[in-house]
Amino acid sequence: MITINVCVGSACHLKGSYKVISSFKKMISDKDLENKIEIKGAFCLGHCTEAVSVKVEDKIYSVNESNVDKFFHDVILGKLKENE
Ligand code: FES
Repeated sequence: MITINVCVGSACHLKGSYKVISSFKKMISDKDLENKIEIKGAFCLGHCTEAVSVKVEDKIYSVNESNVDKFFHDVILGKLKENE
């Protein structure tokens, strides 16, 4: 199981945390990965200037509406493959 922690602190919220979360949810359900990937809301991850902050396995990434698809494919699906 991969956990995607999306910051919903105020800076990230303003930069569109919820849009990022809904994009993840849509991609996860489109690919039937609900039992492999979970999404959690996180408090401020300390990287407010790089909002929206997303933490996966102790690494923090900067994700936004325009790179969320690429991030999901490259990082998340990549990790899923590694874990198989
Ligand atoms: S509010 Fe998201 S990192 Fe600070």
